[in-house]
Amino acid sequence: MLKIYDDHETLSRAAAELFAQEARRVVPAAGSFSVCISGGETPRRAYQLLAEKPLRSHIPWHGVQVFFADERLVPHADERSNVQMARRALLDHVPLAESQIRAIPTEGEPERCASRYEAMLMDHFAGRPPRFDLVLLGLGGDGHTASLFPGTPALDEAERWVAPVYQEGAKMNRVTLTAPILNQAAKVAFIVSGSEKAAVLKEVLEGDAQLPARLIAPVRGELLWLVDREAARLLE
Ligand code: 6PG
Repeated sequence: MLKIYDDHETLSRAAAELFAQEARRVVPAAGSFSVCISGGETPRRAYQLLAEKPLRSHIPWHGVQVFFADERLVPHADERSNVQMARRALLDHVPLAESQIRAIPTEGEPERCASRYEAMLMDHFAGRPPRFDLVLLGLGGDGHTASLFPGTPALDEAERWVAPVYQEGAKMNRVTLTAPILNQAAKVAFIVSGSEKAAVLKEVLEGDAQLPARLIAPVRGELLWLVDREAARLLE
């Protein structure tokens, strides 16, 4: 389902409200709400809104379990780290215990970071493939999502839940959840903003190029595209 919002602010509010609504629905029923979030600039405002009133006080934080779709292999305190961005915008400002935040391990070899994160997921999801209640994803200008970059072996991963990725352009090691795992989620929402995303959004939604974002198709869940007018301007 595609929803178009006037601007980045109303888009961010809608994304934050989706998070709050799902947490309120899932926690009383299941006891815990596992949400998988992304980095990038686009979701920062949504994260900030979750940390502010009124939303902050309407979320059953005690039941929220935070995971990450991907991470750059830099120290967690580094500016470029997704967990660092999420802490600054959201996690440091809400009543979450450290044990409710599953940062992707970033020390040591990429392979080892990926298997340590997979072990953390296995632990939380009792050995079964993770079925996140909500996954928030971004869309890169080259069609990547999470750290699923065009032309990387992680795109073909069918078995592993987590894969190491080398991002050639930025010369950066990263770790990402794989598409088959993201596709287990109950709900996946892409958040896309700005005119610089218009062409790639059109290609993902209406074109036929094999872009990584097109691998996201929940098998037993819902796919939402939350976009602003600028990003949507080329859509039919
Ligand atoms: C990251 C993200 C990545 C991001 C896109 C879009 O680690 O940066 O997980 O997949 O969502 O690159 O980023 P922007 O929102 O900054 O355009």
